[in-house]
Amino acid sequence: MKEQRGAFTSSFGTMMAVVGSAVGLGNIWRFPYLAGVNGGAAFLLLYLFLILLVGLPLILSEFVIGRATHRGAVGSFKQLAPRSRWYLVGYMGVVAGFCILGFYSVIAGWSVRFLYDSVINANAGQSYDEIAASFNAFKNTGWQPILLSAGFLGLTAFVVFKGVEKGVERWNKILMPLLIGILVVLCVNSFTLDGFGAGMSFLFSPDFSKITANTVLDALGQVFFTLSLGMGVMITYSSYVVKPENMLRSKGIVTLIDTSIAIISGIAIFPAVFTFGISPTQGPDLIFLTLPNVFGQMAGGQYVGILFFLLITIAALTSMVSIFEMMTNYMMEELKMTRRRAVLWLLGTLCLVAALCAQSQVEGSRLMIGRYNIFDFLDMLSSNYLMTIGGLLIVVFAGWHISEKRLRKVFTTNGAYNNRIFPVFRFVIRYVSPVAVAIIFLSKIGLIRG
Ligand code: PHE
Ligand code: NA
Repeated sequence: MKEQRGAFTSSFGTMMAVVGSAVGLGNIWRFPYLAGVNGGAAFLLLYLFLILLVGLPLILSEFVIGRATHRGAVGSFKQLAPRSRWYLVGYMGVVAGFCILGFYSVIAGWSVRFLYDSVINANAGQSYDEIAASFNAFKNTGWQPILLSAGFLGLTAFVVFKGVEKGVERWNKILMPLLIGILVVLCVNSFTLDGFGAGMSFLFSPDFSKITANTVLDALGQVFFTLSLGMGVMITYSSYVVKPENMLRSKGIVTLIDTSIAIISGIAIFPAVFTFGISPTQGPDLIFLTLPNVFGQMAGGQYVGILFFLLITIAALTSMVSIFEMMTNYMMEELKMTRRRAVLWLLGTLCLVAALCAQSQVEGSRLMIGRYNIFDFLDMLSSNYLMTIGGLLIVVFAGWHISEKRLRKVFTTNGAYNNRIFPVFRFVIRYVSPVAVAIIFLSKIGLIRG
């Protein structure tokens, strides 16, 4: 028996689901540490520029593809381009899904550990070094991060198992407004810190000498990562939208919310970094080492800490749900599995990938690929390569393969909205975004010197 294809039931639910996918560790964990290693404001400017040039056009392209077909990451391409190999783009997305969920769930597990620490007030009065030591001891047990990430994957699987409407949509409708509320409280709090001025100037006064080919690729990778692009997640979610909508407006709002949350996270973190004289170039551990330290010294910090780690936990869950749903949808539509079977298979294999990632972070672990441990390798591989190449192929597909008539029909919702902007959109996805991605990519791999 074929299970019915799911659908989102309201425009509010759709919006919350899409925002839930976009807003995640990318905004709160990844953006601040990338900005930290890449010179702060210079990185921010590049990032904003690429959001407009590549991010918004690409999220719109994915929505056109999903809405035109009402099929998932692989099926959409099969329907729009039968007898071709375009569907391989969808497979690439599924592979990227394994990579991302592997390391992402480990970080989600860390945030649960810090949430617990805040609840028992473990960091009160501890120094930075003490907090770093206890975090390292936790990571070095191996089994603790593995258990937490497996638990987190289990929770994700549970939501996805409930289905598109009763799982994905319902949970996002509850969790996303909660997340935004928490964020507002936290932002107000950060204005009271001593390092506020230093943190703000790090984030907002650019030093262009910091920009290298690597910085640009990092910024591009972050644009794809933060908007969940290039791997068919947005194609899948848009395939569940059945009501007419003003696509440009709703995706514009999503992009704006996602970008604002990244910047607000920067505002919440860099003042704290400078207040306690920590180096902003910490890398992936940045928020997990600085923030507990700050909270430990702040009046009422225990409660701020609880809110903050709750925020990360929610952000991570709703993003993981979107990737998990994309993969489940693929297995149901293309491999003809039931939802239950698909979810169980994914849960099992993903726990293995996550265990490898967590174990590769143990001191002296030999789980390395080249000079990266598996955790960093999967992060780098997915966002700097799989998502960017996938995204490039998706805009090229939308701009050059889908006929102008069809593209217009879906983009404007049968002529109801944005008819005059349509030619601009088509020009951008045909020429501007692909060229931008290609140049950045080639300059990184060294084919173009300069
Ligand atoms: N957009 C999410 C974030 O910023 C991560 C993500 C990537 C989600 C790819 C889905 C797909 O954290
Ligand atoms: Na994001």
